[in-house]
Amino acid sequence: MKPKVILNAAMTLDGKIATRTGSSEISDKEDLLMVHRLRKEMDAIMVGINTVIADDPRLTVHKITAEPEKNPIRVVVDSQGRTPIKARILNEDALTIVVVSDNASPEKIKRLRQRAEVMFCGNKKVDLQCLMEKLGDIGIKTLMLEGGSTLNYSMFREGLVNEIRVCIAPMIAGGVQAKSLVGGEGVDYMKDAFRLKFKKSYTLGEDFIVEYKVL
Ligand SMILES: NC(=O)c1ccc[n+]([C@@H]2O[C@H](COP(=O)([O-])OP(=O)(O)OC[C@H]3O[C@@H](n4cnc5c(N)ncnc54)[C@H](OP(=O)(O)O)[C@@H]3O)[C@@H](O)[C@H]2O)c1
Repeated sequence: MKPKVILNAAMTLDGKIATRTGSSEISDKEDLLMVHRLRKEMDAIMVGINTVIADDPRLTVHKITAEPEKNPIRVVVDSQGRTPIKARILNEDALTIVVVSDNASPEKIKRLRQRAEVMFCGNKKVDLQCLMEKLGDIGIKTLMLEGGSTLNYSMFREGLVNEIRVCIAPMIAGGVQAKSLVGGEGVDYMKDAFRLKFKKSYTLGEDFIVEYKVL
């Protein structure tokens, strides 16, 4: 069975998850702590390769525990195998699965295998339906999707997102080239927009958190 997917992100009031230069320090300390608590409840955390390159995240729960066995599995969607070998996501704190397509060269796959498990899905871009099936098959029941904008859109388009938790910071970034919560091609008409049902909202320090179910 495919995992239940919760998209988690921090954005400015104008819906940006990074500036045009890729700067993305948006959440307050309190939200970061909360995100680590939420991660700890998940079987896996997933990001797109551009997020790995831009932010070099660890995607662990180090803010709340020093026990590496509490870290969820990390999944990188990376059709060409571009994950830098020195990326922190490949450190020894947790298992990492780099998901490639037939587009990845044998050299890149060999290099990545020194630090990660390599999973194959799709011919060009990573086939996300195939990926969710395979993650389900290895026992992943819950997955937190942590961006970026392009991967978020593909996951919505494929109908693979079940819930959303967004931290809205009291900031405005502007910029047509700044990435928004959900990018990609987008839908052509509002009638085709992905529909949500409000779950709850609350303040966390200066931030405002909203949670929805995806219909
Ligand atoms: N504020 C936040 O909460 C937050 C969270 C995460 C990221 N960010 C920001 O988001 C920015 C990165 O976002 P992004 O949109 O550029 O990139 P992204 O979503 O992180 O990665 C997209 C890349 O993933 C690969 N990919 C492979 N198969 C795919 C598929 N089926 N669908 C979609 N992507 C697929 C593609 O590269 P290949 O073709 O090479 O495989 C694609 O270009 C960074 O600036 C980061 O700081 C912010």
